Amino acid sequence: MKIKQLIIYVLIGSCLSSCAVPKNNEEAEMQLFVADLMNRMTLHEKLGQLNLPSGGDLVTGTVKNGELSEMIRKQEIGGFFNVKGIKKICELQRIAVEESRLKIPLLVGADVVHGYETIFPIPLALSCSWDTLAIERMARISAVEASANGICWTFSPMVDICRDARWGRIAEGNGEDPYLGSLFAKAYIRGYQGENMKKEDEILSCVKHFALYGASESGRDYNTVDMSRLRMYNEYLPPYRAAVEAGVGSVMSSFNIVDGIPATANKWLLTTLLRNEWGFRGLLVTDYNSIAEMSYHGIAPLKESAVRALQAGTDMDMVSCGFLNTLEGSLEEGKVTEEQINTACRRVLEAKYKLGLFENPYKYCDTLRAQQDTYTAQHRVEARKIATETFVLLKNEKKLLPLRRKGKIALIGPMADARNNMCGMWSMTCTPSGHRTLLESLRLAVGNEAEILYAKGSNIYYDAALEKGAVGIRPLVRGDNGRLLDEALQTAARADVIVAALGECAEMSGESASRTKLEIPEAQQDLLKALVKTGKPVVLLLFTGRPLVLNWEDTHIPSILNVWFGGSETGDAVADVLFGKVNPSGKLTTTFPRSVGQLPLFYNHLNTGRPDPDSCIFDRYSGNYIDESNEPLYPFGYGLSYTNFVYGKLRLSSNILFKSGELTASVTVTNTGDYDGYETVQLYLRDIYADISRPIKELKNYRRIFLQKGESQEITFTITENDLKYYNSELQYVYDPGEFEIMVGTNSRDVQQERFIAE
Ligand code: BGC
Repeated sequence: MKIKQLIIYVLIGSCLSSCAVPKNNEEAEMQLFVADLMNRMTLHEKLGQLNLPSGGDLVTGTVKNGELSEMIRKQEIGGFFNVKGIKKICELQRIAVEESRLKIPLLVGADVVHGYETIFPIPLALSCSWDTLAIERMARISAVEASANGICWTFSPMVDICRDARWGRIAEGNGEDPYLGSLFAKAYIRGYQGENMKKEDEILSCVKHFALYGASESGRDYNTVDMSRLRMYNEYLPPYRAAVEAGVGSVMSSFNIVDGIPATANKWLLTTLLRNEWGFRGLLVTDYNSIAEMSYHGIAPLKESAVRALQAGTDMDMVSCGFLNTLEGSLEEGKVTEEQINTACRRVLEAKYKLGLFENPYKYCDTLRAQQDTYTAQHRVEARKIATETFVLLKNEKKLLPLRRKGKIALIGPMADARNNMCGMWSMTCTPSGHRTLLESLRLAVGNEAEILYAKGSNIYYDAALEKGAVGIRPLVRGDNGRLLDEALQTAARADVIVAALGECAEMSGESASRTKLEIPEAQQDLLKALVKTGKPVVLLLFTGRPLVLNWEDTHIPSILNVWFGGSETGDAVADVLFGKVNPSGKLTTTFPRSVGQLPLFYNHLNTGRPDPDSCIFDRYSGNYIDESNEPLYPFGYGLSYTNFVYGKLRLSSNILFKSGELTASVTVTNTGDYDGYETVQLYLRDIYADISRPIKELKNYRRIFLQKGESQEITFTITENDLKYYNSELQYVYDPGEFEIMVGTNSRDVQQERFIAE
């Protein structure tokens, strides 16, 4: 064994001068294999490996690459994405391994972001479950289905911290908190990659968009980001880093600039930070056509941009073909080195090796699995259960919810029977005909016990042109605005209770879906107002991919259940919660503002030198607004239940946290209501005085507990100096001895406080 290892090391030493020292035998074997293969490759074939075109069945960007077979025969691509259907995918793989010179298998990518055909809630919703096991489970099932359909690489998770609800892509991430964002990033990767990507249902994960994309100025997509290192290190970078620590196999750079340079070609970001500081050793791919887009950023035309992207540490070029078509010339001109090309090529080949594609290029081409493992009854059960965990009960006056299955229930609104809009954005692989609409699910749930009446009630927008843009690839049949409202009122008149299913349609959030107005669109608001005017009790079932401004709704609607976009099983999941089979337990991971003018708005902000003394009254020369409070409508961590949880007094084990010691904070939580249910007990810390100004609170831990009615449980959190650390003005990860505030509660606003001294 030892001799074999020695031989491998010697061989590697001779053929690959720049390799890092191999970690173990397996890695050594991989490096040897790849080195041998690369020795036989021409420069053009190596550049081919760096090329990742879009197949074009599914469209996720502005440029298409067209037919791939000829390029594959010539070994001009390293992989492809955006092709749906195992037969098509495997035919392309066949061409690669049977008709190309070196028979190198292809990576097959896709945006499997919240499920493949069994679609789970959108990621923002998933994060509101605060349930890492549920997220891991959803990623596992996504990997099982994607791998059964020819896909070995998912462009997920998206872990961009976002604090600005105008940005449509807030829907794709985990909200505003770096601690939660890091936990969830790891959960996704464990789910996708499984143990080591060796099994046939384990796939390569790609964390994106590196980095800071969620801080796009004005919430406008693809826009500029300009941020201090302190904010990066303390607030925006932790989830990407957590992904690297969890062993993510690939990273996608972002569209935005970082320190003035597009992330695609930012050497500090891609090499100094990601590879050297964090130790990332996997594959680095650009975002869609972003090398070409560097010319619009005012950096350089394609050829020079390709040089800069390669030099910064990029391995694979998504869509632009800049690497394939220009690097040969740049090499001749001495602008790049062969070693730089070799390094990128090696990383692409290593990703394939790690997936086991060289051993079995048809690993993901089992058509039997495609039939057996896609959209299975068991996956759907899990998706339905997980969806119920993501709904957030924003208001429930006089316990209107849960509804009883009796009498006449009017289901009204453009999302009530919108089959193609249940899954939310990034669900191109779903098959809407396979799942129920909300209307169908509610009818099934009540059987003969109650009657569900239905009316569409309104279009998404009054304006047809506006609606066309908003619905994107999921059009809804439009009706006459006036007639829809009349029908809705006639239906409401016959009902005992009204359930209004409205808000955003699926494509109003996600990529390229920024908004400046965050109210429910006027057509639907007018409908809602008319329904409230009937005097009948109204439940608002809110469909949305982002926080909305809900001031009017909060004042006038007794019950608001935010169901986001719950995936293919949305209908049944909503029925479960609406009729009380499941008690809602979601907690917001993103702050709901009172006004767009407050954005960006987030709970873990810094104090000003002039804090707001009373958030309700304008105070001249304080940090507040003349016309709006500083407070959100619904704070981070907020979410109600059908039952009540009462918190006992917060107790600390000591008022001093000794160096290298620990301290505990305990609280007893009692379910005093009429339903069993989950509560998420949250722990926040504040550093009172520090080297730099620190947030007024930061989530440091939480516990999601299940309490039967009448049951109590004591929750104990342990605090160590690790919980106090942050990056100081020298970017050292340390803590400052001194006073800290500890806060425990049911959300970030309603907390009890105590103080302790850290030595
Ligand atoms: C998006 C990425 C996505 C890629 C491939 C881009 O437009 O920004 O999130 O993975 O397209 O579809």
